[in-house]
Amino acid sequence: MSGHDHQSRIGELLGRMTVEEKLGQLQQLAWAWDTGPGGGDTAAAEAAARKGLLGSVLNVVGAGASNALQCIAVEESRLGIPLVFGLDVIHGYHTTFPIPLAQAAAFDPAVTETDAEVSAREARSNGIHWTFSPMMDVTREPRWGRIAESTGEDPYLTTAYAVAKVRGYQGDDLTAPDRIAACAKHFVAYGGAEGGRDYNSVDVSEQRLRNLYLPPFRAAVDAGAATVMAAFNTISGVPAHANPHTLTGILKEAWGFDGVVVSDWTGVLELIAHGGASDEAEAARRSLTAGVDMEMVSTTFVDHGRDLLASRALDPERLDDAVARVLRLKLRLGLFERPYVTETAALTAPSAESRAAAREVAGRCLVLLKNDDDVLPLAGPAPRALAVVGPFADSGDLLGTWTLPGAPEAVPVLAGLRAALPDTEIRHAAGVSSQGLDTAGIAEAVAVAEAADAVVLVVGEPPAISGEAAVRSELGLPGAQEELIAAVAGTGKPCAVVLVGGRPLTIGGWADQVAAIVMAWHPGIEAGSAVADVLTGAVVPGGKLPVTFPRAVGQVPLYYNHERTGRPYDPAAPEVKYVSKYLDIADGPEFAFGHGLSYTTFSLGEPQLSRERITVAELLEDVTVEVTVPVRNTGAREGEEVVQLYVQDPAATLTQPVRRLCGFRRVRLAAGEERQVRFTVGADDFGYWSNDPAGVFIVEPGEIHIHTGGSSRTQARRTLLIT
Ligand code: GLC
Repeated sequence: MSGHDHQSRIGELLGRMTVEEKLGQLQQLAWAWDTGPGGGDTAAAEAAARKGLLGSVLNVVGAGASNALQCIAVEESRLGIPLVFGLDVIHGYHTTFPIPLAQAAAFDPAVTETDAEVSAREARSNGIHWTFSPMMDVTREPRWGRIAESTGEDPYLTTAYAVAKVRGYQGDDLTAPDRIAACAKHFVAYGGAEGGRDYNSVDVSEQRLRNLYLPPFRAAVDAGAATVMAAFNTISGVPAHANPHTLTGILKEAWGFDGVVVSDWTGVLELIAHGGASDEAEAARRSLTAGVDMEMVSTTFVDHGRDLLASRALDPERLDDAVARVLRLKLRLGLFERPYVTETAALTAPSAESRAAAREVAGRCLVLLKNDDDVLPLAGPAPRALAVVGPFADSGDLLGTWTLPGAPEAVPVLAGLRAALPDTEIRHAAGVSSQGLDTAGIAEAVAVAEAADAVVLVVGEPPAISGEAAVRSELGLPGAQEELIAAVAGTGKPCAVVLVGGRPLTIGGWADQVAAIVMAWHPGIEAGSAVADVLTGAVVPGGKLPVTFPRAVGQVPLYYNHERTGRPYDPAAPEVKYVSKYLDIADGPEFAFGHGLSYTTFSLGEPQLSRERITVAELLEDVTVEVTVPVRNTGAREGEEVVQLYVQDPAATLTQPVRRLCGFRRVRLAAGEERQVRFTVGADDFGYWSNDPAGVFIVEPGEIHIHTGGSSRTQARRTLLIT
C-alpha cells in the first residue's frame, strides 16, 4: 500500500475513534512470560484489547499466544484495530548470533544483516512484528554493561551496522512474512551515562551530540527505520523522554521521521523519579508533547490523557499525530489485511542453515589479540594431547546478554575442539568457577596441562554480569580465574587463551604469561564450533577491536578518537612532565581500536589521492576524493585484513579528533596477493557539526591528514588541502 493510501485510511479511522480509543492506541502493555520475570500482566492486556484500548503488546512468546491476543483485539473490539507485537530480538530469536559488540568486531556489516534476516524470519513466523533493535548507542564506557549490546566507540562503524541491521530486519516490504519493524534505540546519547552507571545522567555539548551520538540514528531513519525508542538518560538536564529538541526538533522536524517513537520500559513514569515531573499527569503531558508516541508498560497517557485534553494541557493535534503514527506502523506491517500468523508454519527451533550462518558470523567476529611464536593455529600438525581448561571450557553459557527464553544454549568450546581434532587426546578441567574464589580445582587443571602438549584456557566474564544494569567498577576477570591462568601458564606449556565476555577487559596482569589470546566475546549458539574453527585454522581470524581495551579501569574513558589536548603526551619524549598522561601506568591502551592479528601478515602501501587539493565549494557540491590503498598479503597463507581509513583535521575552529574512521574494508587475500582498496571521502568526512542547536554543519579550508592502516595506530599519511 502506498503512503497516500495509508493517509486516507488513517484519516478515516481517526474520524471514527473516541478519545479513549485514540489514547489506547498509544498504550503498550507487557505479556507475562510463563518463565517469570517479564513483569507483564496478560489478563490486563486481554481486557484492554477487548475494549479497543490497547495498541501494542511486548514479550508475547509463541504464535499461538500472539494469535489468541490478536483475535481478541480484531474480533471483539469495536473498531477491530490489530495489535502490533514487539520483542527484544537483539541478536537472535531461536538462533542466537554473537552479541552486537562481537559482530562489530567483524568490521563487516553483512554479518549483522545476516543476523537480522534470520532473526526476522524466526520472529515473524512466531507472531512478532517489531523488534526493539538495533541498539546504536555509541559508547566509550566498558564499565557500562550495555556496551555488549552496542557496536562500540566509533560513530562511523556504528552507523554502518545500524543501517545494515535495519535493512536486514525490514527488507523492502514490511508486510512480508519474514520481515519485522526495526527500532533505532536509545534516542539519544545513552552510551554516555556518567561513570558508566546505567540510566545515569549525560551532560553533552551540542557538537558532541551531533558528531558522536546522532549520526547512527540519522542514517537509520534515512534507511527507513520504522520506529525509534527514547532513552532512559537525561540529555544535559532534560530527560530524553521529555526532550522536544531531540524527539521533535531533530528527529521529526529536521529529519522528517514519520514513524513511532516508543518509550522505554516505564520511561514516561520515570520522569517523576528523574525530577522532571511532579506527578503522572505532568509526566504524560511532558512526554507526549515532547514527541513520545507510545508508552511502554506504564499507563500515564491512558490514565491522564482525557483530563490533559480537557484542560488544554495537551494539544489534540499532537494526540492525533501520535495515533496516526501508530496506525501507519500497523498499515506498513500489513496487519489490517493479515493480523494472524499461520501457527503450523511457525519456526520452532534453529535450522541447520541458521546454525551454519551463526557459526560463520561468529568466526568472523573473533579477534586475535596476540599470537607469540605462532602457537596458533593448533592444527599444524594437531597436537597429540591438548588440555582444555577454565570455567568456560565446557560451558554452554556463551550466548550473551539479551537472549530469549528457550533459546538453545551454545556449543561449548570443548565440544567444538573435540569435533575439530578427532585424533587429538583432549582432556578437560574447569579449574575454577566463573566468579567463585575457590581455587581447590586448580591443581587438577595444572595436572591436565602438564600431561598435554598445549593448553587452551577458556576464561572471561559470564553473561550474568553483562548487559542492562550490569555495571562493573572493575574490568578484570572475576573470581579466581587469574590465579588459574598463572598456575597453568606456570607449567611452561604453550597456552592460548580464549577470552569470553561482553566488554573490554583489563588483561595486563596475565597477558604476558600466555602466548596467544583470542577475544571471542559471547559468540552465540555456535560458540564452540566457531572458536574451534579459528583455533585450528579452518577459519583465519580477521576481526578487529570495535572498542579500546584499557590497561586499567582508572584510564576510562579511553578511546581512539580523542582530542589532542594542548599538552599531548609524546612517547618520543617520555621525560616531559607537564603533559596529559598518568603517573602510574604506561600511556595509551592495552590494545587499540581497530587492532587485530591474523595467521598471516599484511603490508599496506602509501595511500594515493585522486587529487591533492579541493575547494570548500566543491565539497559542498558533493565532489569527492578517491583514496587508493595498496594492501598485500606478505605471509604464507590466505587471510583477511581490514583496511582502515582515518582522517584528521589538525587545525579547526572546533578541535577535531586525532583520528576519525571514515572507511573500512575487510578483504580476503591469498598468500602474496596484492590489491588496491578504494575509498571515497568528501564533505561528510571532513566537516563537523558546530555547537549551534539549530544544527549547523561546517566544512573549513585547511589541511586534512588522510591516515590508513590495519588499526587506528595508523602508519601512512597523505595530506589533502581544502581551499
Ligand atoms: C529495557 C531496555 C530496552 C528494551 C525494553 C523492553 O529496559 O532499556 O532496550 O527494549 O526495556 O524490554
